Amino acid sequence: MSSYVTRKTPGDTSWFTASRFGMFIHWGLYAMPARHEWVKTRERIPEEKYDKYFKYFDPDLYDPRDWARRAKAAGMKYAVLTTKHHEGFCMFDSQYTDYKCTNTPAGRDLVREYVDAFRAEGLHVGFYYSLIDWHHPSFPIDHLHPRRDDANARELNEGRDMHVYAEYMRNQVRELLTNYGKIDVLWFDFSYPTQTEGPYANGWMKGKGKDEWEAEELIKLARSLQPGIIIDNRTQLEQDLWTPEQYQPLEWIRHKETGELVTWEACQTFSGSWGYYRDETTWKSPEMLIRMLVNTVSLGGNLLMNVGPTSRGYIDQRAKDALKVYEDWMSVNSRSIYNCTMAEPEFTAPADCRFTQSVDGKRLYVHLFAYPYAHLQLRGLAGKVDYAQFLHDGSELLFTEGKVDHFSEGAAHAEDLLVINLPPVKPNVVVPVIELFLK
Ligand code: GLC
Repeated sequence: MSSYVTRKTPGDTSWFTASRFGMFIHWGLYAMPARHEWVKTRERIPEEKYDKYFKYFDPDLYDPRDWARRAKAAGMKYAVLTTKHHEGFCMFDSQYTDYKCTNTPAGRDLVREYVDAFRAEGLHVGFYYSLIDWHHPSFPIDHLHPRRDDANARELNEGRDMHVYAEYMRNQVRELLTNYGKIDVLWFDFSYPTQTEGPYANGWMKGKGKDEWEAEELIKLARSLQPGIIIDNRTQLEQDLWTPEQYQPLEWIRHKETGELVTWEACQTFSGSWGYYRDETTWKSPEMLIRMLVNTVSLGGNLLMNVGPTSRGYIDQRAKDALKVYEDWMSVNSRSIYNCTMAEPEFTAPADCRFTQSVDGKRLYVHLFAYPYAHLQLRGLAGKVDYAQFLHDGSELLFTEGKVDHFSEGAAHAEDLLVINLPPVKPNVVVPVIELFLK
């Protein structure tokens, strides 16, 4: 059994850490301007102009069953959809606002269809809910808000009452956690209590954090409605999930004060934006996509990989291709991902390799980021391996112990050395995996 123990949290993370791989979905009105989900504030777009998106939002090609099937085929076990992003537009039929999809040409509850479709494919269902709201009339203007530079910003801010907004959030979270059956993840986003300095700084504008969100109450409510739910830390109150964003951690994330290992989930995008961004071209290569997943699991984490569907509701070809990369790889290599975690400390991966190990401790997986010529030399593994094979095709890999061959010198000749004989040409797999059955 794996010797790693993570910090206890209120939610049920057991299915989550066994799953390792999920789909993030950023979908909202911002898919129409198609130039980043922060477009409203980046371009300080006035309400009247942003209302055009509301007026014409018509996802006529929305087929969440297709999304769900693609997620499942890619090996993803859960999904998290933006029910409301910072723009404030609700993708569900809330009684507490008119700013919702049912009042656009979409005319239906898009969250409901997502939930039904993903559940039908056997995937766990999660909701992203933005704490920030650039539409709600009670949300005080701050340095991230689209109206921050308006000449009358200060006047506009008068009478905005954070308590009113906090109550609105509780009402909506109650709807989300009552009307859609069992919800597995609640992903709040995000707090910025101290960001009152820097390019956006402006004396009277204040950042927002747990006190402004009334986070204690919000979370208490969520837990009372869905006891096992996994909640992230971005209300600024520590819950189940640590969420490193757009970077690859170099070690298992630890609790700041206690040093305990924590449950973490990296979130990443296929290209440089979360929402659909037509003209963005920094799409990740197949190698990068697979390596991100492997790196994450090799450090005991989950990967939440983002898709930003178009405003018409379909996943564009570039995102489909990226999902297909995962599909091809996971269809034959998922055994090194599901129910796997960081390898025991006694095992150190050689250069250009990443290890994962099954939680039961019985199998060690070697991921080859660069393909070595003909031999893979693994220190510390002599005498410990019963059988070795390529994972993708289950073909035997012969190995020797102690040395590469009778001419080998130096480190290629060591008692603890295990030498795997590899075919000279890399198999046709983005990242080949060697499965070692331990004794
Ligand atoms: C950030 C961004 C946001 C995105 C999120 C995903 O906090 O504000 O646009 O939804 O990260 O992690």
